[in-house]
Amino acid sequence: MKLFEKPHLIDFQSIGSRDLGYITVAENNKNVPFDIKRVYWTYYTPQSVKRGGHAHHNLNQVIFSVSGNITLNTESVKGEKKSFLLDNPQIGLFIPKLYWRDIVFSHSAVLLCLASEPYSIDDYIRNYDQFKLLGTP
Ligand code: TYD
Repeated sequence: MKLFEKPHLIDFQSIGSRDLGYITVAENNKNVPFDIKRVYWTYYTPQSVKRGGHAHHNLNQVIFSVSGNITLNTESVKGEKKSFLLDNPQIGLFIPKLYWRDIVFSHSAVLLCLASEPYSIDDYIRNYDQFKLLGTP
């Protein structure tokens, strides 16, 4: 993976047809730019709830909305903000380490995350001011 990558969408392509349905495949170091160490999914998130609200020291992720619409707002330590609407299960959002994110779900949306590291509570940055300090020289 290139250093200092920014959040960006990756097209994982779909195999199939409107008549028969589709399949999309994610593979280590092929269309996913890291070794997948963990997979998790979130569901039944009320529309009124904003999730995320953190960044990671060391974790890279690819996030899909496998069902429904998910809005992901990202921000770098330098304050570069970008908003992504995930509304297509063949499109993944690559989020590198050190990006703050807020996540809003449509009714019954399901988020699937491919993660480059095992779960570590110490990898989370949950204090926004501390996160922004990482961008000051
Ligand atoms: P969190 O990452 O804060 O979720 P979100 O960003 O969607 O708001 O995780 C929510 C809870 O789940 C938190 O208590 C930690 C726990 N958790 C694990 O135990 N293992 C994991 O791999 C993840 C992603 C979360």
